[in-house]
Amino acid sequence: MGVVLCSPTNGRPLVPRGPQLLSDGERLWPVVEGIAYLRTKEELRRAVVEALQADREGQALRLLLADQDRFSPTSPPDTAALNTLLGAGQELTLRRAMALLNFGPVADYFTYRWSSPTFVGGLRLLELSVPNRGGRVVEYACGIGHFLRELESMGVRTVGVDIVWAKLWLARRFMGVTGTLICGDVETGTVVGPAERCTVLCHDALYFFEHKQSALDNMRRVAAGGRVAVGHVHTRLDQHRVGFAETLAVYRQLTPGTIEDDRSYGTAWFTAGLPTAATQHSSAVAWMEGDPLPTAEQLHFGPALSDLQQNPLLALGEVRWPTRGWQREYQEDAAHIGPYALTDLVADPLVQQLTTGSRQVGDLCEQERLSLYRRQALLNLPPRW
Ligand SMILES: C[S@@+](CC[C@H](N)C(=O)[O-])C[C@H]1O[C@@H](n2cnc3c(N)ncnc32)[C@H](O)[C@@H]1O
Repeated sequence: MGVVLCSPTNGRPLVPRGPQLLSDGERLWPVVEGIAYLRTKEELRRAVVEALQADREGQALRLLLADQDRFSPTSPPDTAALNTLLGAGQELTLRRAMALLNFGPVADYFTYRWSSPTFVGGLRLLELSVPNRGGRVVEYACGIGHFLRELESMGVRTVGVDIVWAKLWLARRFMGVTGTLICGDVETGTVVGPAERCTVLCHDALYFFEHKQSALDNMRRVAAGGRVAVGHVHTRLDQHRVGFAETLAVYRQLTPGTIEDDRSYGTAWFTAGLPTAATQHSSAVAWMEGDPLPTAEQLHFGPALSDLQQNPLLALGEVRWPTRGWQREYQEDAAHIGPYALTDLVADPLVQQLTTGSRQVGDLCEQERLSLYRRQALLNLPPRW
């Protein structure tokens, strides 16, 4: 079944008005490079629509690439950076593109997302909530599409929604995400019609939302009786000061689901176990709403070997930390995963064979591939990482 896009202002299904415009009967909404812009920023919406109506798609693209969210720690990219970004050829990497977009520390987060314990915690949450046959996932606050990429490599159909248009553009251009991508604010509306029962994911984002109840109601509507999986939600115990983190007691009022300690999802990824209940000391929590999925029907991540690359942070006997800030955050998140941390991984004999070059990724057998993927020694990096 196709994806129905909905107006964020009057909720009506959007209908095409030419190749790059959608109408809700009251307003026109722009679509550039196949990605609809459905944020309720009236001035920007109008400027992009006018640029498209005047056949100035390049201008529309630049306006959208410079749009940010309220928590962006850096200023928007300037004209010179956007010219370089759009003038570059196939040699442009994801990392350089994010530098040109002036993502600042957000670029480090996305560049090394695959190595984070919270990323595999999110994958475990998905394993427990997405059926291994015929599933569809709608991810709200999808960023540049790390989870979408991983899901698609397992044959799952996806829809990604984020409030920052440029992130979705990166998802399409660099992360190889093929599902529908929509720029929208989940606190304001669903932007996707509830077409079929699906799993809705929201990971490492709910604490950013000022209006959590309406965001959750929107996600439940889109799940249409399917599961809603919410991961890595900071509590007030976390040092992370951005957004609107709440206490465990407040999160308990927001969901009928059992609230788990988010860190236990990271551990559960490595041990193929189950998460454990949140406590008063949990600095981040997670939950799943909807019927538990029988074990035999659960997804089990393990992309094909041809998609996997050696983790660039692993060097001979040491971790190549990208920045001090990233290292600090990693070490806080990895405190609970014990022997599964990158610092232990570099001592693994098989990893040492890869880092010295005495074995190549392509030489691995099926069992080695799966084991190294589950331990974050092999990552599903995009070709132009
Ligand atoms: C920390 S990132 C997490 C990205 C991804 N879920 C992951 O775990 O890798 C948080 C994301 O939430 C998005 N976001 C923040 N507020 C939002 C909102 N109201 N609606 C949709 N997306 C939002 C941001 O643009 C950002 O991409």
